[in-house]
Amino acid sequence: MNSYFVIGNPIDHSLSPLLHNYWFKKYKIQSEYKKKKLEENDLKDFTNDIRSNHSIKGANVTVPFKKKIIPFLDELSKVSEITGSVNTIIKQNGKLLGDNTDATAFEDTLNDMKYSIHEYGRPLTSLIIGAGGVTSSIIFAIEKLNNAEGTYYIMNRTKKNADDLALKNLPNVNLKPKVLDWGDIPKNLDIIINTTSVGLIKDEELNLDFSTYKGSKNTLFYDLIYNPKETNFLIDARKRGNKVMNGKMMFILQAKKAFLEWTKVDVDIDDEVLKLLDND
Ligand code: ATR
Repeated sequence: MNSYFVIGNPIDHSLSPLLHNYWFKKYKIQSEYKKKKLEENDLKDFTNDIRSNHSIKGANVTVPFKKKIIPFLDELSKVSEITGSVNTIIKQNGKLLGDNTDATAFEDTLNDMKYSIHEYGRPLTSLIIGAGGVTSSIIFAIEKLNNAEGTYYIMNRTKKNADDLALKNLPNVNLKPKVLDWGDIPKNLDIIINTTSVGLIKDEELNLDFSTYKGSKNTLFYDLIYNPKETNFLIDARKRGNKVMNGKMMFILQAKKAFLEWTKVDVDIDDEVLKLLDND
């Protein structure tokens, strides 16, 4: 039996095992996928275990280790190198390759919704809220969707964290986001993305005023959170008449890409998988 893991801390909330074990069963692959709660000083031993144990074929990495895991890997994909973020470890000839399937998953969801420079004939103007672990993947995807043209913004409660992320920590992103003060919402945005953890607990509010977007039916409010299904950020947007999207499809697509890299099976996203994640 081959094994795969998702490592993080905390890890109880992770829904990755549901998806991967469903696909292992559906595609009759003799493997199991388990959660593993680690401390930072376990990362070295864990990566050595993957190298030496033939039955361990790969792993996902989640908060707070997506960056911290990097020194213990042998190679990085281009996306992981640029974003400084690894969510998938692939074992190749005993070596460990770190990849980032979050960025491409996010990009694919926007392409599917026709939010791209190719559809619009101009770069989309986006606002990224937050400067946490997943934000570098979103910056990378937005730059790519716009062919590194146009303007996009980032805003974070602690402005210094946005400055550090946007201006220092992503040297290979050519088109840098403009860093705004918290609450300083630009007009005429096409996409507004919540990458913060605000909303994971029901009733939490970002306390940002988007009232100038009342009736803007083409402006997309995108929350990376998928549980709860609809955060206040999305409830308010829906009431204003904006387009809304939660993080469920991005989460499924990042898992689909990891699964493809590990098993070479390109899974279908069927209704059952969509239902697996509906737990509220
Ligand atoms: P990570 O994703 O790196 O684990 P996190 O603690 O989940 O980090 O926080 C991610 C983001 O949520 C950060 O941008 C954080 O803002 P700060 O840099 O100011 O800490 C943001 N965040 C958390 N709580 C917030 C709140 N109540 N209001 C606004 N932003 C918040």
